[in-house]
Amino acid sequence: MTKKKVLLTRRWPQSVEARLSETYDTTLNTQDIPMSPEAIGIALNEFDAVCPTVSDKLPASIFSGGQRAQILGNYGVGFNHIDIAAATGAGLTVTNTPGVLTDCTADTALTLLLMLARRAGEGERELRAGKWTGWRPTHMMGMRLSGKVLGIIGMGRIGIATARRAQAAFGMKVVYFNRSTPSDSDLSGLDAQRLETVEDVLKAADVVSLHIPGGGANTHMMNSERLALIGPEGLLINSARGDIIDQTALIAALKNGTIGGAGLDVFEGEPDVPAELIAMENTVLLPHLGSATRETREEMGNMVADNLDAFFAGQPVPNPVS
Ligand code: DGY
Repeated sequence: MTKKKVLLTRRWPQSVEARLSETYDTTLNTQDIPMSPEAIGIALNEFDAVCPTVSDKLPASIFSGGQRAQILGNYGVGFNHIDIAAATGAGLTVTNTPGVLTDCTADTALTLLLMLARRAGEGERELRAGKWTGWRPTHMMGMRLSGKVLGIIGMGRIGIATARRAQAAFGMKVVYFNRSTPSDSDLSGLDAQRLETVEDVLKAADVVSLHIPGGGANTHMMNSERLALIGPEGLLINSARGDIIDQTALIAALKNGTIGGAGLDVFEGEPDVPAELIAMENTVLLPHLGSATRETREEMGNMVADNLDAFFAGQPVPNPVS
């Protein structure tokens, strides 16, 4: 039987590339050069499955219907880079990789939280630049996390995992906003208070951490009015999606001291990061490392492979996106 043709738009962990290459006629992006939307559009006519990542763009214009591809096996949980309505409207099944990156993304949120609160990036920059003049009582004082309030926006899997870590490790109090109430079993062992509105959380929290999907109504959800509610001592963490925050408004808020600092793993217009954010000392900036561990990146790839295997065997896919 002829093997199905599968395209991976970027380099994937070696073990998963090997697994896919065994089962399918797999084309690898050996140079790991990002593909343009137009190139991905052409690939939809040449492959049975196209497997994009969160750094690709798949706008409505590339889905015409009648294309060869039947499935998009997205390598990542977030899918705001794909026009899902256009893809499914053109008859494609779309899958993603939920669950396997929960712990690592929560770890990254905590990394940002601790680095920002304790000014770790700033301190390391000072030391490496040879500018440290020695211990003194007023040197680089940060925020003590114990007993402070963590406000979670979006109490899904990653929001809950972040809250658990912050409470267990630092004894933080947790408040959150989520449209629906998470189940008792999801929240078991966690002492977290649900507040009525996003604004209530922003006002109550010392540190706010974002855990909602990007795109749609969440685009620029954190606008200048909401940023102002965090307050001059307050800290903002984003390990979700860059477009949730109005980046221009954030830069203004950081510059004029409306908020205390921001820890960001994601940006609007990645991989471009505004020079103003880079120049600021009250930011911690990471290059979208949320899920970047060997274990998780392999699990993500294997999850895509499981979805392709199910699809081409005529079975329901385990992780459909609709
Ligand atoms: C995702 O999967 O959506 C992350 O942003 C990258 O792992």
